[in-house]
Formats: sequence, C-alpha cells, structure tokens
Amino acid sequence: MKKLGTKRIETERLILRRYVMEDAEDMYNHWASDPEVTKYLTWPAHPSVDITRMLLQDWISRYEEGDYFNWVIELKSSGTAIGNISVVHLKEEIDAAEMGYCMSRTYWGQGIMPEALRAVMDYLFDEVGLNRVAACHDVNNPKSGRVMEKAGMKLEGILRQAGRNNLGICDHVWYAAIKDDRKN
Ligand SMILES: CC(C)(COP(=O)(O)OP(=O)(O)OC[C@H]1O[C@@H](n2cnc3c(N)ncnc32)[C@H](O)[C@@H]1OP(=O)(O)O)[C@@H](O)C(=O)NCCC(=O)NCCS
Repeated sequence: MKKLGTKRIETERLILRRYVMEDAEDMYNHWASDPEVTKYLTWPAHPSVDITRMLLQDWISRYEEGDYFNWVIELKSSGTAIGNISVVHLKEEIDAAEMGYCMSRTYWGQGIMPEALRAVMDYLFDEVGLNRVAACHDVNNPKSGRVMEKAGMKLEGILRQAGRNNLGICDHVWYAAIKDDRKN
C-alpha cells in the first residue's frame, strides 16, 4: 500500500477533508454529543465540547502519518461539517482496511454516507492500493448494512457476540469489497 494518508476527496454533494480545530463545535453539536448517533458505536456521546476539542487535537496531530485515514464530511451546499468517516483498523500485512462512520441525524436518509463511503473506497483501492475494504455493524443496526451494500460491499457473515458497543456485547454483521470484485 502507498502511505498517502487523508487526502481531500470531492463528490457531488460532499467534501471529505482533514479536520481542523474549528470543526469542534460542528462535530459536538451535530453528531458527537447525540446518544442516538452513538448508540451502536464504541465511544460514548461527548459530555462537553472540551472533550471534542481534546480528541480533535490528537486526530489532527496524526495527519502526518501516511497510514492515518480520517475525514470530516462537509456538505458543499452549506459548508457545514456533518459527520465522520475513517479507517478504524488497518491490516498492512494483507492490504486491508476496516471502515467506521457516523453522521448527524438531521441528514440521515439522503444517501450521504453511501456517497462518502463509495468515494473513500475508490481512493483506498485505486490510489492507496488496498486489496480489501471491510466494515461491520451491530445486527440491530441494519441501516448501516444498507450503507455498506449501497457502497458496493458484499455480505460476508455474522460473528456472534464478537463486538461491544454502547448497548453491550453484540453480534457483528460483516461486509467487504475486494479488488477482484471491482473488475466486474
Ligand atoms: C448508518 C448511517 C451512517 C446511515 O447514513 P445515511 O446517509 O442516512 O444512509 P442512507 O441515506 O443510505 O440510509 C441508509 C438506511 O437507513 C435507513 N434510514 C433512512 N432514513 C432514516 C431515518 N431518518 N431514520 C432511520 N433510518 C433511516 C433506511 O433503511 C436506509 O436504507 P434504504 O435506503 O435502503 O431505505 C447513519 O444512520 C448514522 O450515522 N447512524 C449512527 C451511527 C452509526 O450507526 N454508524 C454505523 C456504525 S456500524
């Protein structure tokens, strides 16, 4: 893989870019403080914007690492930061990434995350040179599975009681795309 890091990506409606400290308020207000958004995630909703700022400081300091992939999703029409998409695990020995994403409730149901995930997958396969891009969701959060499906991933199976999120231990549904899928 090429260590190209978090490169700016544009889609029809979105700009995927590196975080800056000025994103803290949008991030906190629009998604990081909302327990409905974090319900199936591994981190608790932020109790204050100071927590968001501390996290952003750490994320921003890692952008010089070429194997760090973490984008804020900005809506072109308003310039608002509305969500996050990132590589949560990178397995360099097999050129594989696992994705994570979340977004402000205000914008659910408009196909925004599939648009972001498709664009990130294109980048990871075509420019970074990965061979496999995967993601998993709590069996009780099927709308995330729809995002994976719409972005071109295939269902691989369920790992029973293989994860933990804010609701406790859960079954994980796994999806992935591999380079060979994209030749068809
Ligand atoms: C999962 C998530 C990223 C989906 O993003 P999105 O941009 O709304 O995705 P889509 O518009 O393609 O909608 C996906 C599915 O969500 C469901 N959905 C759509 N609008 C919805 C709404 N307002 N409320 C609840 N579910 C809705 C639909 O089933 C849709 O599938 P369909 O297009 O086949 O009908 C978003 O809901 C989210 O941020 N959830 C909280 C964080 C999270 O669960 N992350 C994933 C962890 S694995």
